[in-house]
Amino acid sequence: MVFTAIAMHELIDVAVNILDARDPHTFIHSWRVAELSVLIAETMGLPNEWINKIHIAAHLHDIGKIGVPDKVLNKTGRLNNDEILLMQAHPRIGYNIIERLPILREISRIVLYHHERFDGLGYPDGIYGENIPIESRIISVVDAFDALSTDRPYRKAKNYNGCFEEINLHAGSQFCPAVVRHFMNIRDIIPQVLDKFEKKEINHVAFVGHEELMHSRRLI
Ligand SMILES: [Fe+2]
Repeated sequence: MVFTAIAMHELIDVAVNILDARDPHTFIHSWRVAELSVLIAETMGLPNEWINKIHIAAHLHDIGKIGVPDKVLNKTGRLNNDEILLMQAHPRIGYNIIERLPILREISRIVLYHHERFDGLGYPDGIYGENIPIESRIISVVDAFDALSTDRPYRKAKNYNGCFEEINLHAGSQFCPAVVRHFMNIRDIIPQVLDKFEKKEINHVAFVGHEELMHSRRLI
């Protein structure tokens, strides 16, 4: 069978819907990360082929969380050390799932490195600087921004200005400074992009369940 672009799109759709069924919070988070990562990639002038890869990788970046035990994934308090290790396995689990398909091998590498830090203090491999794929460096910034701008059981969300400040503060240590610079350039349009989700103006998202969560959750 020849694997067409359409078949690939459908395959990714199946994968993200598996994630939605298992963990709708991560599914929604991934949608926001995908939208903003693509925007950054466009402002950086990256080629279309790379932008497509970023889009797919961002939707799949946390797919490995389907391998994290419920008691850790859904814990409302802070994680203990053992639980942190289980959670930190998710980039490797995601990589192991995706890389089995040859056409997704490059995507799997982006997923593997989305928690690496520019200064080399991230995980799973502690690679640093431009050794980290640019796609992973972009996803890393947006991933952190979305986490900061969303309520967690143990802390309230920061407002957008607070999130931008925090990201700026860690440019050069946690984050790639070039990516942060481009992210700051689009800061004014970010609220309206994320608002599309609230207004359900997106057309490619098929929810497989958890509608009650979809309507009650504070997304931003
Ligand atoms: Fe992650």
